[in-house]
Amino acid sequence: MTLMDQATTLRTLASRQTRASVIAVTSGKGGVGKSNIAVNLAIQFAAVARNVVLLDADLGLANADVLCNVELPFNLSHVISNKKALRDVMVRAPGGFRLIGGASGLARMADLSDYDRQRLVDSLALLEQQADIIIIDTGAGISPNVLSFTRSADDVLIVTTPEPTAITDAYAVIKVLSREGREHRRLSLLVNQIRTPNEARLVYDRISRVARQFLGVSVYDAGYIFHDECVSQAVRKREPFLLASPRCPASICMAQLAARLQNGLAVALPQPAGFFYRMSKWFWR
Ligand SMILES: Nc1ncnc2c1ncn2[C@@H]1O[C@H](COP(=O)(O)OP(=O)(O)O)[C@@H](O)[C@H]1O
Ligand SMILES: [Mg+2]
Repeated sequence: MTLMDQATTLRTLASRQTRASVIAVTSGKGGVGKSNIAVNLAIQFAAVARNVVLLDADLGLANADVLCNVELPFNLSHVISNKKALRDVMVRAPGGFRLIGGASGLARMADLSDYDRQRLVDSLALLEQQADIIIIDTGAGISPNVLSFTRSADDVLIVTTPEPTAITDAYAVIKVLSREGREHRRLSLLVNQIRTPNEARLVYDRISRVARQFLGVSVYDAGYIFHDECVSQAVRKREPFLLASPRCPASICMAQLAARLQNGLAVALPQPAGFFYRMSKWFWR
């Protein structure tokens, strides 16, 4: 799909939809590339959609602001402590999306009470009416903080690498999510840091086969991102790799990823209620 095709489809979707499509980027194991993928996916979508928001929900270990080299005068911890409204903590990031930064090094954020998490969810509900696409960097694992954000997303993008430990942990996430009984939600698998496309295929085939056989869920193939020195170089420069090296292999893979995910956004649109509304309902169940 060309950039023009992508733009046309996204504009059509945006004019039809009444709420944002929500993509949660998650993983079992840490360090697999979630934050880089979330930031660069936001940039990729911002090239064609008007209003893209990235929420750094890796509570306690947030670092999307570092990858983008933006100063965050305020972050989600100020929203939690009632010092700021959400709109006051949103900043423009390079590449044209808006970033809601998390807080780093605050144990209170990493271990939010149900009450605080609920207040955060309530304050985020407004965002759905104002954005076209919301991307959430959830952090790793299956803690309540992570699961509360993946719970009602339209699309949960599970990132793994070809390492056996990452694969095992990705499957563990799929297992937990599959038991939540949310059929409308799509689970997608992205294999990051691959050396050859065949390596990605083997990982996807293995995980999707076991998920189908033992969990009864189908996992969507979101594709792969090459292991690429441009990524770590860009991280060191504190510039998203899509902006630092738009023609590097990882950047080209990002365009393919956005195109694959976009297929699913259309499916997600008929959902009657917004993501954070659904999350709120879950909390009070
Ligand atoms: N496709 C890639 N190619 C090369 N290195 C990568 C790639 N993706 C991630 N990395 C490396 O992994 C590190 C961790 O990535 P990050 O996005 O912070 O992971 P997570 O958010 O899952 O903890 C990056 O700083 C980078 O050095
Ligand atoms: Mg991260």
